[in-house]
Amino acid sequence: MKSIILIGFMGSGKTTVGRRLARQLKWPLIDMDTIIVKEQGRSIDDIFAQEGEEAFRRMETETLARYATKPDTIISPGGGVPLRPENRKIMRDNCHVISLYARPEVILDRVDRDVVVRPVLENRKPGQTKLERIVEVMEARREAYAEADLMLDTSDASVEELLATIMKWLESREAE
Ligand code: S3P
Repeated sequence: MKSIILIGFMGSGKTTVGRRLARQLKWPLIDMDTIIVKEQGRSIDDIFAQEGEEAFRRMETETLARYATKPDTIISPGGGVPLRPENRKIMRDNCHVISLYARPEVILDRVDRDVVVRPVLENRKPGQTKLERIVEVMEARREAYAEADLMLDTSDASVEELLATIMKWLESREAE
């Protein structure tokens, strides 16, 4: 079967849903941030600081191109992957694209619980709150995240509910 890629904003649930989906389907999970960090031997925050965002975005495209064509794989990319049109084409041509959404307040709560530093959210104008930054970036990315085969709001749903919806949708897709 075509691979499944879970796109969406930071904290929208890509990793959590990806892990559960991988377990359910008995497919490997490719967490793109983890792969980049391992290959680079440094954190994403360090890559941004030392080489800039563009260099990180190139690493993402290279990693995506390597894994998107593999069958029976769950791919969890970083939240910025759908920004590049070439990445969207790679995903569209090779994968089932599932887009996860959550309300800004829910995103803030989730990212604040995480130890990972997200440079895109730390890069704020003077006086801008983290919530305001989330709303701003989310708005700028709205169209990129809308280019998907299935869109799901994870704000109030349990992982079990999300998994059931995805499995049902996959069955109908594969039956077509
Ligand atoms: C980013 C999201 C992060 C990570 C990097 C940039 C983004 O991944 O790739 O900090 O631009 O949205 P998560 O979506 O897993 O937090």
